[in-house]
Amino acid sequence: IDVSGPALLARIIAHRGASGNAPENTLAALSLAADEGASCVEIDVSISADHIPFVHHDDTLERCTTGTGLLCDSNAADLDQLDASKGMANFIGEPLPRLSAVFDLLEARGMGLNLEIKPRKGLEKETVEAICSLVGKSWPSHLPLVFSSFSRLSLELARDRLPQTPRGLLVGGIPSNWQSLMSELECRNIHCDGNALTPEQAAELLAANVGIFCYTINDVDRARMLLEMGVHGVITDFPKRLASYLDT
Ligand code: G3P
Ligand code: MG
Repeated sequence: IDVSGPALLARIIAHRGASGNAPENTLAALSLAADEGASCVEIDVSISADHIPFVHHDDTLERCTTGTGLLCDSNAADLDQLDASKGMANFIGEPLPRLSAVFDLLEARGMGLNLEIKPRKGLEKETVEAICSLVGKSWPSHLPLVFSSFSRLSLELARDRLPQTPRGLLVGGIPSNWQSLMSELECRNIHCDGNALTPEQAAELLAANVGIFCYTINDVDRARMLLEMGVHGVITDFPKRLASYLDT
């Protein structure tokens, strides 16, 4: 395990922005997270056909936008025309954001970022290169940034391309070989399913000086329990709900 310790983000991280009350992975959801007092957000990133990074969860466009087909088959100029409001009345016209626009917003609002690299299978190399190139050019380096990915290949490519940007191994349950995976990929954090994590697993990870971030925690009692177990942060669709409860 890398001994430099947890790569800290925040105790409460807004999942896809404040996606419980705004369309996920949009500038509106990120602004709302800031308005709700969150100091950090999680977003999903993949690339267009012309290799521009966009913020979007699925491979296909149908669920979250007015587009059709695979995101990686459309050029950026066409993706710019889509509506990503998911039909939510107050958000009609909300665009599918480019990662560059998200960086501008996060800089303006002074927020940290958990950037989940979510490549279309087979496009790992191009996706990591496009993201890392933009990070190198325009991420405001005074703000916290951690990459995470379910794609081991993407973490490996990110490790080689931008070794100084911390990485989190993204998993469901804690895999039995977490130690070897984390040392190989030089990950400081593990980002795991917070409903599956046991106190014993948390204690073992903490003893190894690993940063623990848990998704997707919308239940306030579960959030408190995880933080009491020592996890460093919870990733939630409802940052305001958790913040007001945890403050009490
Ligand atoms: O990064 C935590 C979480 O976002 C991982 O799952 O599917 O919501 O991207 P998913
Ligand atoms: Mg995600």
